[in-house]
Amino acid sequence: MNIITTKITRRRFLQTAGLGGAMLAAGLPTTVTWARPGPSAKKLRFIFYTDVHARTEWDTPRALQRASEAMNVQKADFMIAGGDLITDGFQSGAAKIKHRWDIYLKMHQGIPVPVYPVLGNHDLVAAIPEDGTNPSDDPRRIFRDIFGLHSTYYSFTACGYHFIILDSILISGGELKYQGTILPDQLEWLREDLSGVSKDMPIIIITHIPLVTAFYQLTYGTTGPAPKNRVIVNNRQVINLFNEHNLILVLQGHLHIKERVMLNGTTFITGGAICAKWWRGPWYDTEEGFSVITLDNNKVFWEYIDYDWIARRPISR
Ligand SMILES: [Fe+2]
Repeated sequence: MNIITTKITRRRFLQTAGLGGAMLAAGLPTTVTWARPGPSAKKLRFIFYTDVHARTEWDTPRALQRASEAMNVQKADFMIAGGDLITDGFQSGAAKIKHRWDIYLKMHQGIPVPVYPVLGNHDLVAAIPEDGTNPSDDPRRIFRDIFGLHSTYYSFTACGYHFIILDSILISGGELKYQGTILPDQLEWLREDLSGVSKDMPIIIITHIPLVTAFYQLTYGTTGPAPKNRVIVNNRQVINLFNEHNLILVLQGHLHIKERVMLNGTTFITGGAICAKWWRGPWYDTEEGFSVITLDNNKVFWEYIDYDWIARRPISR
């Protein structure tokens, strides 16, 4: 697979993985560009996987190995990791969950394509610890260091498509502990980023917490509100920024369901979960799996791949 990359490279990521999760500071600007010249430009095929919830119980390292093999078969151009890559970083001290980063990174050994990471709520480390350790002064630091990011929101352009990775987590404290929000400084960055994108260029947003979902209408009823820690509460502020742009696709995680909503020329896909029901088997008919996305000009094709894992976590735990 010949992909020209700048700044985020396969070598860099695998170098990190090869270190078994040791932290690696690199230096990724918030906007990177790469292009694949030739007749296949404008057609792009990539994997979107989300909600790994890496851990070591219930044979789950074998599941990750199996997922990695299934991804490799796809020979995609690159991968996007949609967040919640490990389990319970938010409420844990760094030492307690380091082995989970190690097992997550091991999943990537042998997948020779770049990975673009998205922050999930579980990927914050020591945000509000419940294990007696001190809160981190920067719960995003470990995530940034592992992936060599300056910022947990950034963009890149590939084959004529503009990809925007959002950081959708606000540590709010209180009962919910966090909520889905795009804060003003990120909105400002987004405005600035979009000012350099032509009106007809197809744009893809990737966010851990969904911007749009019908899941709560399905489960709570048509007038039921979504919890503030399950959706981006200021989604209109974000979506309105794209009124004059060609937003073709929003990829989302967090809910562990597979769902497609199409509104106003934009497809919103919630991409299931590597761990399905937190390693207990299918969740709302969504198996352990990942998505393969094909973009062909303004068209979006989506396939959900079940990597054939039989859950071994007891239902009661
Ligand atoms: Fe999750």
